[in-house]
Amino acid sequence: MAARQNTTVPKWAPPATTKENLDYIDLVNIDLSKFDDPLSRKELAHEFFSAFTQDGFVTVSGHGISNEVWDAQMDLANATMTMDPAAKVPFEVTPEEDEQGIYVGFKAAGGLGFHKEIDFYNMLLNDPKADRKHPAHLIHHFAETQKVMLHIRDDIQRKFLVLLAMCLEIPEQEMLQTHRAGQSSSEYYRYMSYAPLTPEATLKARGLFMPAHADWGTFSILFSQPVCALQILHKSGVFKWVEYKPYTLVVNVGQALELMTGGVFPATIHRVVTPPPDQVNSLRVGIYYFSRPNDDYSLLPFKNSPVLKKLGKDKPLDPSVTYNTVQFLEAKKHGYLKPDLDFDRPRDPGVHSDPFREGDTFAPTEKLLASIAVKAAT
Ligand SMILES: [Fe+2]
Repeated sequence: MAARQNTTVPKWAPPATTKENLDYIDLVNIDLSKFDDPLSRKELAHEFFSAFTQDGFVTVSGHGISNEVWDAQMDLANATMTMDPAAKVPFEVTPEEDEQGIYVGFKAAGGLGFHKEIDFYNMLLNDPKADRKHPAHLIHHFAETQKVMLHIRDDIQRKFLVLLAMCLEIPEQEMLQTHRAGQSSSEYYRYMSYAPLTPEATLKARGLFMPAHADWGTFSILFSQPVCALQILHKSGVFKWVEYKPYTLVVNVGQALELMTGGVFPATIHRVVTPPPDQVNSLRVGIYYFSRPNDDYSLLPFKNSPVLKKLGKDKPLDPSVTYNTVQFLEAKKHGYLKPDLDFDRPRDPGVHSDPFREGDTFAPTEKLLASIAVKAAT
């Protein structure tokens, strides 16, 4: 992708990387530059299968986003997230849009939203409002941003879906038609920031910016960030840090894909915590892409996959109900498939397990797995 001269947006200065000795997870890297050659693509599909079914997170290189384009997007993300709070208000999602499941604009400051230490600006791939207003600096650079959004959807996501089809041994077209361009209303690109919390707020939130959760869609694709805060629940039951790898994407599986694969590709449990001491006062700016199946796609395991059959994973995870994507997202809002991971919450103020203590396992993995078992909404 060719870079475009960035003339009006201030340069983002990446915060210094942490010097702390953190317990990092060793993620498999998927090098998408191996995709074009049929032989190395097969190897890649093997790596893809084992990484996603074991850790549920990978890093991705060879993704085709040049360093210049990456930097220009970080400049835009930073400029957007550091706008004056009052200037953000006209671009906030409206209650009506939120009600309709339209994820667009800034998070609302009141009513719908909560505190703004976590803030984001969503841009839809298929915005129902053709004349959507964006902040001026974004309008000026919207064509280049859309190019990045479409590159992620039509190149990176497409390659992921093809690799997935290879893993499940189903025709490529059968997989690709689950994510037809223009058929999802909830696929979006997001600029996001986590502002430092006061020591009091950190204590109150138990050091958690975002408690442990699973994402809702197919794949969540994020630009690796210099401020460390993302942790993944390792299969040993311990949360491990995700290391910053410049110009690398970090990708994880969401619950829609878990349903589509009978649980073979499990949605990964992760959380966002207070950054290490030497980064605790930095603004953590990030860029995300949330991949979603078509609105009307029924989230059931692929019937014709010999792999799912062989593994005995070709049955619906929840036999009591079949949701399409839109219905699933609506059900999620009402607590469907919500993992119960808040068991570290102190019941007694005098007893509080430290979630950051080395070797703290929170709870045995079995308990976690049981807690995320599919169950009907109540
Ligand atoms: Fe997440």
